[in-house]
Amino acid sequence: MRDGATNIKWHERKVLLPDVEKRNGHKGCVVWLTGLSAAGKSTIAVELEKKLFDEGYHVCLLDGDNVRHGLNKDLGFSPEDREENIRRIAELSKLLANYGLIVITAFISPYKKDRNQARNLLENGRFYEIFVKCSIKECANRDPKGLYKKAYAGEIKDFTGISAPYEEPENPELIVDTESLNIEESTNRIYNLMKEHKLIGI
Ligand code: ADX
Repeated sequence: MRDGATNIKWHERKVLLPDVEKRNGHKGCVVWLTGLSAAGKSTIAVELEKKLFDEGYHVCLLDGDNVRHGLNKDLGFSPEDREENIRRIAELSKLLANYGLIVITAFISPYKKDRNQARNLLENGRFYEIFVKCSIKECANRDPKGLYKKAYAGEIKDFTGISAPYEEPENPELIVDTESLNIEESTNRIYNLMKEHKLIGI
């Protein structure tokens, strides 16, 4: 990381989160999906965002592939770059959640340490880690982008699950196993968790 700036000051806002939440009828929070490539993170995230939007909630989706097209296009897949990728997304998610948005993120986020750092940026009860679980065998079988084929052929280095690690969450708020649940069921499980924790419908 570069040297940080000095002589900067935090500015307080006049629009306060509790007032925003009262008006919105939901909490500002982060729903953090983690899992292997092709596990179903983006698909579920897209469905969840649509469902919440259609019900009138203020929601936004940050997706790994999309963010890497712009904001994080300077980052690759080394451990250091993945760490920086997640750090930036976590900071952005925190800002957006503090504006009262429901932030859904869909990043492999393979390292426990980086996910925990993301969690620690948020107040208790505002960060929900969802493990989108799927075996490497099934992910390679789905291979929607043809990346597993290339990775097995040695054409992509540092590929998660093959030549780079994926550290499974130990205590996620929820596990959705996409080998046994379909997209709708997976989405509903997360939606129900949000209801149970009174993130929505308040
Ligand atoms: S993360 O590890 O830093 O969290 P992120 O979710 O942003 O990864 O990006 C993962 C996406 O990048 C995958 O879904 C896949 O489409 C693409 N990708 C390209 N190269 C790799 C690689 N070496 N490992 C994993 N994903 C890769």
